[in-house]
Amino acid sequence: MAKIGLFFGSSTGKTEAVSFQIKTEFDKIQNDLVEVHNIGSASPDVMMKYQYIIIGIPTWNTGELQDDWDVFFPNFRSMDMKGKKVALFGLGDQNGYGFNFLDAMGMLADEVLMANADVHGFWSSKTYEFEESKAKIEDHFVGLGIDEDGQQDKTPARISAWVQQIKDEWGL
Ligand SMILES: Cc1cc2nc3c(=O)[nH]c(=O)nc-3n(C[C@H](O)[C@H](O)[C@H](O)COP(=O)(O)O)c2cc1C
Repeated sequence: MAKIGLFFGSSTGKTEAVSFQIKTEFDKIQNDLVEVHNIGSASPDVMMKYQYIIIGIPTWNTGELQDDWDVFFPNFRSMDMKGKKVALFGLGDQNGYGFNFLDAMGMLADEVLMANADVHGFWSSKTYEFEESKAKIEDHFVGLGIDEDGQQDKTPARISAWVQQIKDEWGL
């Protein structure tokens, strides 16, 4: 089966750690199915090599993009992602930033949808407590929500269930 490209940006290492946990979960389906790239040193060409793309982004500075994603974002405007199967995950802190929880994942969804990607892996927002999020549509997030600051204990089960969901949605 075709490889999955996972692209993350991370300022204090939490999104990076979650990226490798996701990779490990996919290894149970097939070893080395996921190739992990730091967006700080990855080009649009590398991302466009993949048909299956997972993108991880933390929210920083109260509702803003993480620095490396901020640099990469303008590239989406010249990328045609038609036919690409994309799944998103975001990291945030619902207790500290409840009015901007996971906002960057919502901003990312807007970009990849504008680039014509098919976005999969929507995730229920029920087990989180926050006021507002740009990543929320009705009772779902546009991707997996991870909170390593306030709900670290829930992370392994969330990753495992989400990877199973992606596996089903992508027919892997
Ligand atoms: C200064 C600062 C601003 C933050 N702003 C937000 C925010 O607006 N929304 C949110 O959900 N999380 C926010 N966070 C939490 C981070 O997204 C969270 O700690 C994340 O796990 C960091 O990921 P990283 O280590 O991969 O960079 C903020 C954290 C800090 C320290």
